[in-house]
Amino acid sequence: MLKRILLIISILTVLFLIFIGTTRKPFNIMITMAQQYAENYIKGGSDLEAKENNKNTEKPEQNLADKKTENEKDRSEKPEQPKKADPPENVGPQTNNQTDSPLSFENTTKIDQNGREIVTNVNSLLVLVNKKRNLPADFAPKNLVIPDVPFPFEGDSPKKYLRQDAAQALEELFQTARKENLDLLAASGYRSYETQKNIFENKARAIGEEAANRTSAYPGQSEHQTGLAMDLTSSQVQFQLVEEFGDLKEGKWLKENAHKFGFIIRYPKGKEDITGYQYEPWHLRYVGKEAAEYIYTKGITLEEYFAQLYDYK
Ligand code: DAL
Ligand code: ZN
Repeated sequence: MLKRILLIISILTVLFLIFIGTTRKPFNIMITMAQQYAENYIKGGSDLEAKENNKNTEKPEQNLADKKTENEKDRSEKPEQPKKADPPENVGPQTNNQTDSPLSFENTTKIDQNGREIVTNVNSLLVLVNKKRNLPADFAPKNLVIPDVPFPFEGDSPKKYLRQDAAQALEELFQTARKENLDLLAASGYRSYETQKNIFENKARAIGEEAANRTSAYPGQSEHQTGLAMDLTSSQVQFQLVEEFGDLKEGKWLKENAHKFGFIIRYPKGKEDITGYQYEPWHLRYVGKEAAEYIYTKGITLEEYFAQLYDYK
């Protein structure tokens, strides 16, 4: 009788051990879930909120601008991007990653404590920055790379960087320009808020604030801070940024062809009252092919583009 009881106990023990062995994983999951629940309960749900917020900030932009340039994006995300390097000053906080459709133009700025309009769609390829619309001082684009194009100076420099989409497009522009034997070089791309501040203050000291602001932007108002603008030059103008560049074969070619690569001449002749800046035949701004084509065909500025299509005032 005792033997039989011992046998039954042994069989039950073996069966219990097999049961525990096969069900340990679900047990662990249940224990982990219970622990997390208890933690969240204690913290008043703050972790869950943080996770939700992260989800929002990491959400890829799905704005009109980005949709328009989907093909370009696909290309720019190829791993074999030339000369990708860790850019300087590219880790600034992203102040706003909201869905930034230019269709709802009234939602692309907010007013700061000084009453200034601060752009909120900072990551849009169609971001509009001008004398009314300021970039946040702490904004720096995330995806800066050095385009594989000639520069008139050696070595690494923040000036060589552009956002990836713009860099890719600039390489394509230069490939075509090279085939046409054009003497083009890239002189100045990305600029941080601080760099622009120094440039503007030096100029204002030399020629006065008002005169300086006809050619140089106040910090926060320069497109160079977006990483979407590049100044081009030529050896024929000693690599300077001067109006004569617009009279060269190179300047004329850019005026007629930059849009094919998604760029516009941002500060055209005769549009100073609209853009707020003197004629700059060297300043290319990347907006994507669709917008660039429209702007080129109509002979308008970026401000007029938004006025015509998105009721910008
Ligand atoms: N030269 C242009 C306006 C800038 O400073 O960004
Ligand atoms: Zn420029």
